[in-house]
Amino acid sequence: MTTILSTVFIITGITTGLAIVITFANAFIADYGEKKMIINNDKEYIVEGGKSILSALVDQKIFIPSACGGKGSCGYCKCKVNEGGGPVLATEMSYLTEEDVENDIRLSCQVKIKEDVKIEIPEELFNVKQFEGKVVFSKDLTPKIKHLRIDITDGQEIEFKAGQYVQLLAPPYPGNAEEVFRAYSIASSPSETKSIDLIIGYVEEGIVTTYVHEHLSEGDEVLFNGPFGDFYLNEETGCDIYMVAVGTGIAPIRSILHYMNEKKIERKARFFFGARTQDDLFMVEEMKRLEEEMYDFEYIPVLSRADDDWEGERGRVTDLVDKLMEKSDSGEGREAYLCGGAPMIDSTEKALLGKGLPEEKILYDKFD
Ligand SMILES: Cc1cc2nc3c(=O)[nH]c(=O)nc-3n(C[C@H](O)[C@H](O)[C@H](O)COP(=O)(O)OP(=O)(O)OC[C@H]3O[C@@H](n4cnc5c(N)ncnc54)[C@H](O)[C@@H]3O)c2cc1C
Ligand code: FES
Repeated sequence: MTTILSTVFIITGITTGLAIVITFANAFIADYGEKKMIINNDKEYIVEGGKSILSALVDQKIFIPSACGGKGSCGYCKCKVNEGGGPVLATEMSYLTEEDVENDIRLSCQVKIKEDVKIEIPEELFNVKQFEGKVVFSKDLTPKIKHLRIDITDGQEIEFKAGQYVQLLAPPYPGNAEEVFRAYSIASSPSETKSIDLIIGYVEEGIVTTYVHEHLSEGDEVLFNGPFGDFYLNEETGCDIYMVAVGTGIAPIRSILHYMNEKKIERKARFFFGARTQDDLFMVEEMKRLEEEMYDFEYIPVLSRADDDWEGERGRVTDLVDKLMEKSDSGEGREAYLCGGAPMIDSTEKALLGKGLPEEKILYDKFD
């Protein structure tokens, strides 16, 4: 008995000792202290060593795209690290091309600052701002999709291009201990500079969508930053526009449509919207109204599991592209805007290429 007790005491002693050593090591050895972060060979900041480049930028109120909130799973937070980035990490590899690696492009959320760093980011990101807002409207479009309007309450106005997105912050809430940002496309027109609309779907066990669907109510305050993204209406061309979306992918398309309507842009526009059943369709009246008001716009919903009484198109949006778009070898005069999940975008892109659209005329935002 005495032997067993002494063995337990010895093991407990060793474990406690190791825990103390590890805690001490974390606190002192892994304490990198203050480091210099030089951006674009021009601006110098003193930052906390040990943090990721992404977090250090946020501390300085410099916001770069980071759709997954720093989890290393979106590949949006790329920046050029000229010095101090250390070797490329395994966690970055699935998002970096060979060319990226050759050009010192890194995932800023994965690179920890252990020494002074020199990085490059696009100058326009210095214009991205953080906004304080208040939810003034929250409505269920379907049981799993919410339409929010957020008024900006800090006196600023937001300038963006139709199609761009913001990053909404979910604060800690029961079941989620950390602050997390996620990307949401602005669903309102750029002419509305004092508020934004968002259309947010529920993702099972999703951190931010659970916050939005279960914890956020009218009157609540929120933080968001933006605008971001190169998915926006190209106003340089007079090309016909083909828009394809499923579910919440309607958000940036709605912004583009309202903008085109307000500016009286005279271009042919077709919007193929995919859903499963009639119950999954929303904003139909609004789309019909835009059909009447706009120069040459048609809204064409397509259902993959339509009831017998459905008189519209049936199948997937990709089938609709195949059915309704003519093949053109020149590829000129048309451009496409796709929005939604990766499988839909990949198959629709393939169908569009098959119809003769060149790759550079197909713009998309993948939501997952
Ligand atoms: C540029 C851009 C614009 C976007 N705009 C919108 C928008 O307007 N409206 C909108 O609702 N969403 C939009 N998204 C998606 C959004 O950013 C989040 O990824 C999504 O809301 C899930 O966040 P979450 O924190 O709830 O889930 P997480 O906690 O990130 O994920 C939980 C789990 O769900 C999986 N998952 C994540 N996203 C999806 C998804 N979409 N479908 C199925 N599974 C998923 C994850 O892999 C994970 O396993 C956009 C994404 C990008 C990149
Ligand atoms: S923030 Fe998503 S990969 Fe870095």
